[in-house]
Amino acid sequence: MFKGLFQTKSPVKNEKLEFDISDLDMNNIPKHIAIIMDGNGRWAKAQGKVRTFGHQKGAETLKTIVRAADAIGVKAISAYAFSTENWKRPITEVNFIMDLLSRYLTSEIQEFNENNVQVRFLGSREGLPPVVIEKMDNAIRETKNNTGIILNLAINYGGQAEILQAVQSIAQEAKDGSLDVSAIDKQVFEDHLYTAGLPAPDLLIRPGGDLRISNFLLWQIAYAEIWTTKTYWPDFTPDHLVEAILAYQGRERRFGGLVEKK
Ligand code: IPE
Ligand code: IPE
Ligand code: MG
Repeated sequence: MFKGLFQTKSPVKNEKLEFDISDLDMNNIPKHIAIIMDGNGRWAKAQGKVRTFGHQKGAETLKTIVRAADAIGVKAISAYAFSTENWKRPITEVNFIMDLLSRYLTSEIQEFNENNVQVRFLGSREGLPPVVIEKMDNAIRETKNNTGIILNLAINYGGQAEILQAVQSIAQEAKDGSLDVSAIDKQVFEDHLYTAGLPAPDLLIRPGGDLRISNFLLWQIAYAEIWTTKTYWPDFTPDHLVEAILAYQGRERRFGGLVEKK
């Protein structure tokens, strides 16, 4: 039996994680997986704890899942950490998440570098605390030469906002005369998205039980395969990731065409 195996190097946890990948078709691993990391609050509530405890645990889960995805051969993960709509939450929760992001981006640099992870960000910087922006810039700088898995962290991200800002910058270029209106095609549009240069996600995973997109990567998921689980994000394990990829491998992707039966 072939197993995925890795040692977590977190200072708080040092556990050996073993998961079974023997059923996976290694020639059909999704290159890019998008994850809506949902259910942190409900996970915490279920154990009689405050919601923020769930966010803390969720950050640990992300670390584990990036390691597992890398071990499986996934090339990029886009993880939804904070949406443009999440500002509606109580200020104490928003502040906790901003503080957590800033701490995570400090404490994980070593882990990213040890595992060759390149960190990028999706979203608008407008309204983010300067300290978070500073840590984001630092994470980009410190990991930019890493050649392994790409971790796109979606922070202050909204799919509609992303499309609007692309439209605005394209309109500005057309107005300035640097872009011909007739030259605006799919490629030009995608070059103006936060995900410019990356292939679209093949698989979208949503833990937490809700069957919706919640404004994540609206343009990019046009043909993504969707997999959901009732499991809350803090309880999500490498085995769930394998289960999602197995389901993906059982799907027939047609992209609007027909697949000839052999
Ligand atoms: C996802 O978990 C994290 C963020 C949106 C920041 P939630 O905080 O949405 O947890 P639930 O969905 O309320 O359980
Ligand atoms: C989506 O979860 C955003 C993130 C996971 C960061 P939400 O909890 O904000 O989504 P809704 O409100 O259930 O649609
Ligand atoms: Mg939620």
